[in-house]
Amino acid sequence: MDRQVREGKKYLIAVQEVLGIEHLLNKILGQINLNNTGMICLINNAAILEPLKSIEECNAEEINKNFQINLVAPIVLTSCFINQTDNIQLRRKIINISSGSGTYPAPDMSVYCSTKAEIDMFTQCVGAEQSKQKYPIEVIAVDPGMVDTELQRVARGKNNQDFEMAKFFKQAHQTGQLQTREALGKHLLKIIEKQFQPGKLLKYSEE
Ligand SMILES: NC(=O)c1ccc[n+]([C@@H]2O[C@H](COP(=O)([O-])OP(=O)(O)OC[C@H]3O[C@@H](n4cnc5c(N)ncnc54)[C@H](OP(=O)(O)O)[C@@H]3O)[C@@H](O)[C@H]2O)c1
Repeated sequence: MDRQVREGKKYLIAVQEVLGIEHLLNKILGQINLNNTGMICLINNAAILEPLKSIEECNAEEINKNFQINLVAPIVLTSCFINQTDNIQLRRKIINISSGSGTYPAPDMSVYCSTKAEIDMFTQCVGAEQSKQKYPIEVIAVDPGMVDTELQRVARGKNNQDFEMAKFFKQAHQTGQLQTREALGKHLLKIIEKQFQPGKLLKYSEE
């Protein structure tokens, strides 16, 4: 786990190394002072866009890497988080960052779109499991809308011939459709505070 570093209370892990997740989460939870904590929240945010090409051009390594980061890691993190916080009498919440790409089919984005659609379904399934629990974990998915991040920069920076959707991303940027990261951060803080039914799928515009 060579990408794992500790910076104060911040841990980084290359999440495709999913076998290390259980141990890492255990370590992080062990460092939280539960007496001074009102709530513990896991946000599954990490994702990659690539490969951005028609499926027959994607190789097994690229497809596997995307699924490990975008889907397998959030699933393993969710499983470990629920398991490891089972005896903790605090409000517990999981926010899975999804995407509109999980609901709109797009050429050259089949791998990314598939993982995001699956994140929504996974959230709803775990929500159904949690609804039966005495102290359910609020597990929700949030589609953040279009945000001015590196991911957007990469998508609009592609050649229109190689990546059909590049035009769409360029236009979204040029016409000011991207929100800032700060605005999304403020909105997410409100979503963290607010209570939702387990399994709820939220769009950025909803609250
Ligand atoms: N931006 C948008 O318009 C938009 C729209 C819909 C949904 N989303 C979703 O929002 C979330 C954040 O995306 P973003 O726009 O902020 O993308 P981004 O600018 O490309 O950032 C991706 C994040 O994922 C982390 N990450 C990537 N590979 C990782 C790995 N192997 N292990 C651990 N962390 C890894 C990166 O960490 P490092 O920097 O350390 O590599 C970075 O923090 C994603 O789930 C994305 O699907 C974004």
